[in-house]
Formats: sequence, C-alpha cells, structure tokens
Amino acid sequence: MKIAIGSDHIGYGLKLHIIDYIRLKNIVITDFGTHNEERTDYPIYAKKVAEAVVSGEYDAGILVCGTGVGISIAANKVDGIRCVVCSEAYSAKLAREHNNANVLAFGSRVIGTSTAEAIVDAFLTAEYEGGRHQKRIDMITKIERGEM
Ligand code: RB5
Repeated sequence: MKIAIGSDHIGYGLKLHIIDYIRLKNIVITDFGTHNEERTDYPIYAKKVAEAVVSGEYDAGILVCGTGVGISIAANKVDGIRCVVCSEAYSAKLAREHNNANVLAFGSRVIGTSTAEAIVDAFLTAEYEGGRHQKRIDMITKIERGEM
C-alpha cells in the first residue's frame, strides 16, 4: 500500500506524527508538503495529494489542517476524489466500506495523536464492500461529471 500525505502549517506537527506512525507499519508514505510551520494555504497540498491518488500511483491520501474541513473541501474538487473529514474511527471505517473514500482528512485543532492513530488504522484496514453501495458511488461520479 502507498499513501500520499499532506498538510498546511497548522496540521504540520500532527502530520509528522502520523508519518512516523504509518512508517512503523512498513507502509510506503510520501509527504507532499508543507515541510515547515511557515504560514501557507491548504488548497496547495489538498490538490497535490488528490492528484497523486487520482493518478493511481497512491492507494489513498491523508490530509491534515486545523479542522480538516478546508483541506477536505479542496480535495473534493478534484475529479475522482472522495475525501472524508473524520474525528472518530467509526466514520473512517464506514467511509471506506460504504463510500469507497480514497482520502482521509482530520484536524490538528480538533483531535489528538492517539485519536488520529485510531482513525488512520480504521481507514487503512477497512475495505470497500461494493454491492449496494456501488450504485450510490456511481451517482456521485455522475454529479461530478454533470451527468445528473
Ligand atoms: C488555517 O488557519 C486554517 O484555516 C486551516 O488550517 C483549516 O482549519 C481550514 O479549514
């Protein structure tokens, strides 16, 4: 599994923690920035991670900003991205199983490191169930393409 990760300056510290946490699991993770705590703009990193996932080079993405909200809104503007902002693990699990989410977002001002770890674990271990859910994913894709 290959993971693309990104954050703004507010999410930077929590992102570093999560990178170390994921590397311990022998999962390949690439940091698309930002690379320090200098003020910057979250759409830059949302776009980089989203495009890395849509390209097929990465299996999933993780984004961190202050709340996870801005960076998830930006990521969802990229065709093919289903980014979910989570503050607890159950939603992260179901986002994978039911919504086939391909990017996870959370906020460093909202959750601490152990909750972030639990959310990441839930997201990375759950699998899309397909079946009855596929019809709804197809409808989302149609909205994205202006076909519905
Ligand atoms: C940056 O100040 C902050 O707005 C950003 O990290 C995020 O919380 C936006 O949703």
